[in-house]
Amino acid sequence: MLQQVEEMNTDVAEQYRITQEPFYRVTGAEEALYQAAYARRMPVMLKGPTGCGKSRFVEYMAWKLQRPLITVACNEDMTASDLVGRFLLDKDGTKWQDGPLTTAARIGAICYLDEVVEARQDTTVVIHPLTDHRRALPLDKKGELIEAHPDFQLVISYNPGYQSLMKDLKQSTKQRFGALDFDYPEADMEAEIVARETGVDADVAQKLVQVAHRTRNLKGHGLDEGISTRLLVYAGQMIAEGVDPQAACLMTMVTPLTDDPDMRQTLQAAVETFFVN
Ligand SMILES: Nc1ncnc2c1ncn2[C@@H]1O[C@H](COP(=O)(O)OP(=O)(O)OP(=O)(O)O)[C@@H](O)[C@H]1O
Ligand SMILES: [Mg+2]
Repeated sequence: MLQQVEEMNTDVAEQYRITQEPFYRVTGAEEALYQAAYARRMPVMLKGPTGCGKSRFVEYMAWKLQRPLITVACNEDMTASDLVGRFLLDKDGTKWQDGPLTTAARIGAICYLDEVVEARQDTTVVIHPLTDHRRALPLDKKGELIEAHPDFQLVISYNPGYQSLMKDLKQSTKQRFGALDFDYPEADMEAEIVARETGVDADVAQKLVQVAHRTRNLKGHGLDEGISTRLLVYAGQMIAEGVDPQAACLMTMVTPLTDDPDMRQTLQAAVETFFVN
């Protein structure tokens, strides 16, 4: 019986394994720090603006550590059952179905809860017993207590700045994690990432990064957030497809960011400074 369960868990783990090395440019000490945290199975929180490489980093670390990765995009309608599991009705009666957190705890995966502040606080507390010395997950409805697999680790991401006070993590949740600050990579590195991800040449990549820097300075002065690395990658992809650079930048770096006509004009002017028709 026990052997059967172990075999089943191995099959499930295979589904979540990352087989190809994801491209991730290490920008500082994050890799070494994460490895040390993982060695002690410390829960880790990744903080940083949208599109700066948090998810890519987790994929890369899961590949590096050869752990399966289970990612959950959190939202405010999510309930504890969505994470933990529930009884489902089928023709033979009711059947328990593990949620992603339970699966990760059973198979020894890295469980990545993306945008965790979006979840309600009563949902978030289900991670508490998994993220302290207990490393256990009680399935109350099923009357089972799961002890986390020795390789299991929990990682959450968090965009500081957007959320209102209503949407913050409780201190008792925050203080269960070691945290790493993420930000857009330094200019040369970011250009290298954009070139590598899209195939545009170094000169174009540098220009895109310079436009982004202008907009990042406008954060808090009419923009909630500057252009992210993700949007730079989109711009590079359009240019690599043969789209005129100004049109590519308009579609990927101006229009998504703001609806304010004056701000759009400012952004457009920044694009035209670097990409002359
Ligand atoms: N250090 C990096 N190495 C390689 N690619 C990167 C790096 N940083 C950013 N990128 C690129 O930026 C894109 C967006 O990064 P990612 O999806 O990891 O952002 P994120 O921080 O998870 O954002 P969100 O908070 O919105 O989920 C990636 O798909 C990748 O192309
Ligand atoms: Mg992400």
